[in-house]
Amino acid sequence: MMEQEVKKEELEEILRWEDVGGCHEAKDELVNLSKELAYQKLYQRWNCKPPKGILIYGPRGNGKTMLVKAFASACSFPVIPVKQSDIWTKWYGESPKNLQKYFSKAKNLAKKRGAAILFFDEIDDIVLKRSGLHEEDHKIVTTFLRNMDGLRADSGVYVIGCTNLELTQLDPATIRAGRFDIKLCIGHPTAAERTEIFKAQLKYRERYATVENFMDSMNYQHLGEISEGYSGADIAEIIDRVCRKKMRDEVHTLKNSPPISTDDLVNQIDRYNKSMQVVKNKKIGFQND
Ligand SMILES: Nc1ncnc2c1ncn2[C@@H]1O[C@H](COP(=O)(O)OP(=O)(O)O)[C@@H](O)[C@H]1O
Ligand SMILES: [Mg+2]
Repeated sequence: MMEQEVKKEELEEILRWEDVGGCHEAKDELVNLSKELAYQKLYQRWNCKPPKGILIYGPRGNGKTMLVKAFASACSFPVIPVKQSDIWTKWYGESPKNLQKYFSKAKNLAKKRGAAILFFDEIDDIVLKRSGLHEEDHKIVTTFLRNMDGLRADSGVYVIGCTNLELTQLDPATIRAGRFDIKLCIGHPTAAERTEIFKAQLKYRERYATVENFMDSMNYQHLGEISEGYSGADIAEIIDRVCRKKMRDEVHTLKNSPPISTDDLVNQIDRYNKSMQVVKNKKIGFQND
């Protein structure tokens, strides 16, 4: 696997920027970066350095991984997703070597293709605070840092990491300047952002569905307003539930179900609130600062 070029399909799906609702600041930064990296020669012209690493952090289920997938789909060079299962082994001393191999692979690919991105989803599995870690885990943090530091500005290798943890839970050396130069926070969506996420999610589904799956007259603003406390993943779950209900109705009645309406979603949000007891106005376990 290591020698082969990684195809975008390895990231499972091709996403467009518009598939990710809200999180404008992070999205803008990544859109611009994908354009910037396409014209790397200009770094020399302006005698400036590209960012070595980008760290995307924030509570689970709000589009971090999605954004990187959209970034990967927009880039013309390889994005290598680091599989945690390829890194961690039970053999002593092997895990840091496996991590090292990923960096070597990225450097080789960047030489051939002009650039390569190493993508660490849930990077906290690698760079948790060293105090209190076992020796092997300690070594992996050191290996990561050594490799990040060893990347020359013209190596063409860039690192993207995502984490659901707060930055203070990561090893402080990893977040020091010169390693992850860009840090993007994706917080809980606001009402306006939830409105966009409903829109983006339904449009994304329609692209691949074989029926007309939602009405033209959707009241997206209302949906955004009544889904306070919901993450993007909660919204995706609501829509899934509505779609499955439509399916079940078709099986039951042997008739085509009408497309999804605002009411269908409102009812499902109501039921979801009751079943999941979504705690309104409360951000659990994460502080946006
Ligand atoms: N901003 C968003 N726009 C559209 N869908 C979203 C958004 N955030 C989350 N989702 C939905 O939730 C799922 C999980 O999102 P993900 O990007 O994996 O979250 P994270 O990496 O922040 O934990 C996505 O596959 C998508 O269906
Ligand atoms: Mg994720």
